Amino acid sequence: MAEPGMAQSATALPEEVRAAIDALRPGYPTTEALLLPALHLAQEHWDGWLPDEAILAVAEELELPPARVYGVVTFYDLYHQRPVGRHRIRVCSNLSCALRGAGEILETLRRELGVDEDEVTPDGRCSYVHFECLGACEQAPMMMVDGEYHGPLTPDSARRIVEELD
Ligand code: FES
Repeated sequence: MAEPGMAQSATALPEEVRAAIDALRPGYPTTEALLLPALHLAQEHWDGWLPDEAILAVAEELELPPARVYGVVTFYDLYHQRPVGRHRIRVCSNLSCALRGAGEILETLRRELGVDEDEVTPDGRCSYVHFECLGACEQAPMMMVDGEYHGPLTPDSARRIVEELD
């Protein structure tokens, strides 16, 4: 019988993911430490996001409580519990950016991409979300596209940036 807090029944990880995790084990002192790279490997396998089955499979593989793995997945912005686009756009919506037009930038993306926040364009190209201060307030209003900062933005410059994404 499973211990309380341990995975009750999880989909096993695909063999190639298990093998990749096993290859990393010698470099990590504990399974806790291995959790972050293991989640990356699982996320790669599941096309850039982590459905529940992936999270439970990682928990089982590392013999960690699922709650611990969910905690890490929800804490780090690097992990996604919903499908994301090939290009991820984060629009800062904190005070400086909000005062300088972040709302208009979000509305421009919604119109340009034809999807709401946290949805993926039908071609899988883009998804966008609003975000807490990205630490570039002097560029307000700004957005981050795949790790690259853009700002100060206007609706037109935001549209051009999005158009150029392949
Ligand atoms: S308020 Fe937008 S980057 Fe800080």
